[in-house]
Amino acid sequence: MELKQAIEKRTSIRKFTDEPVPIDDLKEMVRCAGMAPSVNNSQPWKFIVITNQNILQAMVRAVQIKIDTLFPNTAGKEAALKTTLNSYSTIFVNAPAVIAIAASPYEAVADKLLASSFLTHDDLNDLRSYPDIQSIGASVQNILLAAVDMGYGACWLSGLLVAREELEKLLKIEDSWKLVTFVAVGKPTGQPKPKDKKSLDEIFSLVE
Ligand SMILES: Cc1cc2nc3c(=O)[nH]c(=O)nc-3n(C[C@H](O)[C@H](O)[C@H](O)COP(=O)(O)O)c2cc1C
Repeated sequence: MELKQAIEKRTSIRKFTDEPVPIDDLKEMVRCAGMAPSVNNSQPWKFIVITNQNILQAMVRAVQIKIDTLFPNTAGKEAALKTTLNSYSTIFVNAPAVIAIAASPYEAVADKLLASSFLTHDDLNDLRSYPDIQSIGASVQNILLAAVDMGYGACWLSGLLVAREELEKLLKIEDSWKLVTFVAVGKPTGQPKPKDKKSLDEIFSLVE
């Protein structure tokens, strides 16, 4: 498939058939993720592929329990919002595979100059708009496009991170790493129409 075709065809897939995704295909998606640009080529990522349904269901439960704890109110308008939040955060409930992406702390060249500056590491990271997280975004897009190219559907997921601590324990993420985002992958049950996007005129401007 041509790259532009994959870009145009990609849309978030949230409903999957039962068909398992072969490990080699998941490895190929992660290989493509690892080709992404990263700040100073730091490649501050790890990709943890989960196909074990018991673990995936335990993740769903951890997210639901956390949402109940964080938002205990179930009356009125909030009840409906909570239902929406619950389903947005657990759409991987029927996914045959989920890829969790963890980041390791990134030390920029400028970090080495902090001792003689009034800036902290966090100030610097904020000024630079979190280059490690930006790098991970690039790797996730590669997974999404590789999935389309290989005949799969995928959905980028951050909603479940409300239960980050619980998920890090479940997935045995090492202390120096932090879960940053997830991607659900599988064969789509159908091909939803790509979402409407802003027109080029709305998003393009030129500084000459
Ligand atoms: C950083 C990020 C986090 C997202 N988290 C979720 C999520 O938790 N659950 C979900 O159903 N979709 C999630 N999405 C998918 C977006 O809702 C989706 O990309 C958006 O509605 C546009 O639709 P499209 O991907 O089909 O173009 C996320 C997307 C991004 C980029």
